[in-house]
Amino acid sequence: MHSAFIAMKIITTAAEMMKFATEHQNDGNSVGFVPTMGALHDGHASLNRIAKQQNAKVVVSVFVNPTQFNATSDLQNYPRTFDSDRTLLEQEEVDVMFFPSIEEVYPNSNSIDYEMDGLDQVMEGPNRPGHFNGVVQVVTRLFELVKPTNAYFGEKDFQQLAIIKHMSQKLGYGVNVVGCPTIRESDGLAMSSRNARLTVSGKQVSNLISRSLFNMKNGLDNGLSVDQVVEQAKEHLHNNSSIELEYLELVNPKTLAHASDKDASIRACIAAWVDGVRLIDNLRVK
Ligand code: PAJ
Repeated sequence: MHSAFIAMKIITTAAEMMKFATEHQNDGNSVGFVPTMGALHDGHASLNRIAKQQNAKVVVSVFVNPTQFNATSDLQNYPRTFDSDRTLLEQEEVDVMFFPSIEEVYPNSNSIDYEMDGLDQVMEGPNRPGHFNGVVQVVTRLFELVKPTNAYFGEKDFQQLAIIKHMSQKLGYGVNVVGCPTIRESDGLAMSSRNARLTVSGKQVSNLISRSLFNMKNGLDNGLSVDQVVEQAKEHLHNNSSIELEYLELVNPKTLAHASDKDASIRACIAAWVDGVRLIDNLRVK
């Protein structure tokens, strides 16, 4: 016989979420928290598994956060797949699925402007005004409701992870923010709910993104300079007309400032369009 299966709890209100959080705080149980916007795939599942290994209880939120979308159409078109999300979370034996309405998350319409010390001014920032402000707003609100010991975020969204680490510390949330490795398809493409919108040929072309990242790592390993690997990768990507590069940057992983050959650790980050789908990926190249 398997051990008794305790059904996953689905919580939809802020009050009930805070009650659960307070009970577990009082019991001294560690709570692991995985915030998501749903449309869950293996990348999300890997975060749940890491959280389960490290905590007594795991809470996963599914909330399509309106404050982080730049275009209303993007918000409206975001996939909403409650039934399959619930099934995936049950299979992963998550303790709580937190599925609040907009009113429960934002009971009043006050918006706060966060000072992110420049981390929001590079890469994704200029292309998506207000995006990271909305991310920080929702994540801090969710931290207040879930009161997690540890919170899990994917390296897939590397700039988001860097900003949340910085802001959680700066605002004194006392939550341990854990970065988790990017889960990839067998051909290297980083998993994303957006991949479903790629055509067959688009999917093949998309491999160039991860391949460029791995090539840049090889280049640096073999003694090329930062400028040389960037130039090579850009040339390689520009050669394929089906892929439109938005940015390719090598940055210091903490400050997100341009990397130099002197940096001990370097992250390569790419955003590119294929088939009208915007894809992002990154890799530690040094
Ligand atoms: P969402 O895009 O649903 O992603 C939820 C979490 O899953 C993020 O931490 C993201 O980095 C991680 N993730 C996505 N694809 C992954 C992959 N292939 N491998 C590993 N992790 C992956 O990111 C958000 O939602 C929102 O901005 C959120 C933080 C929930 C705030 O609304």
